[in-house]
Amino acid sequence: MILDRVKKALLVRLADLRFHSGTELAAEFGMTRAAVWKQLSELQTMGLDVTAVPGRGYRATMPLELLDAERIRAELSEPARALLGALDVHDLVDSTNDILLQSSGANRPQGTVCLAEAQTAGRGRQGRTWVSPIGANVYFSLLWRFDESQRVAGLSLAVGVAVMRALERLGLAGIGLKWPNDVLLGERKLGGILVEMSGESHGACTTVIGIGLNRYLARHRGIEIEQAWTDLSQVIPTHRLPSRNLLIAFLLNELLPLLASYAATGLAPWLGEWRRFHRLQGRAATLYLADRAIEGTIEDVTDTGLLILRCKDGICRQFASGEIRLRVEARP
Ligand code: BTN
Repeated sequence: MILDRVKKALLVRLADLRFHSGTELAAEFGMTRAAVWKQLSELQTMGLDVTAVPGRGYRATMPLELLDAERIRAELSEPARALLGALDVHDLVDSTNDILLQSSGANRPQGTVCLAEAQTAGRGRQGRTWVSPIGANVYFSLLWRFDESQRVAGLSLAVGVAVMRALERLGLAGIGLKWPNDVLLGERKLGGILVEMSGESHGACTTVIGIGLNRYLARHRGIEIEQAWTDLSQVIPTHRLPSRNLLIAFLLNELLPLLASYAATGLAPWLGEWRRFHRLQGRAATLYLADRAIEGTIEDVTDTGLLILRCKDGICRQFASGEIRLRVEARP
């Protein structure tokens, strides 16, 4: 979906975070002030936070920054640039993962990246919605094909490590992972990874690796999120937040080389680092599966990324999916 010309131009204008009067905007776009207001209201429903002050005009009240393919390319490392297949920048999509999973992804080259300003139906793990307002966070998906689907085991954990590396390169402290691949800042969720596959269970397959990272999410936009969440603006002043375009480039600099080598290496070279970033090692937790909840202690992961949970009966069992919640042990 393409934002209409006026909405796009309004976003560009408001990205300077200064006040713009209704009269100025109306003259620039050749429309009435009421029509400008209507356009801004529609942008607000897409996630734009804007304040209107009588006598001064409109001002974006969020660190709005539009996606810029050239800026992203300019920040790519040599290896990442060589591995990038295509960089598709969209205004508004249902879900960047869906774009690449649907038939439109079938003819896209290896290493295609699909970026969006906003998602209307962003998806998270466990059937959750990924809140994706316009212009301030990161939402993208990456397409990578594997000759043998078995080679993909554990990939989502390795992707978590790549995200950690990118965030560390940006100087971010206090980050961590929660099995299988929640991205944490402190104890709260900063981002998520959704790896989806199409193809045979034995044979060639296409993977789509979707990444969402909260750079700035206004409190009122996050009220429907069930998990404890956070964004980068909680630890970095808004005017010093890393650029969205730079964040994306840093993530691609880590992710593309990882994908290129993964079929040959598997998870093994990433496991040590994954364990270092995992926040829940040794913690008492409950694992929620579709039909039951299992209490235990988080022991480790296997060399293909399965969770090892020591259950109440003392036996260690392995799990491929589920949602962990920490348990607060009762005092003796
Ligand atoms: C999670 O629940 O932790 C995974 C969240 C993944 C969100 C990203 S945003 C870009 C891509 N498109 C989607 O619809 N989902 C992923």
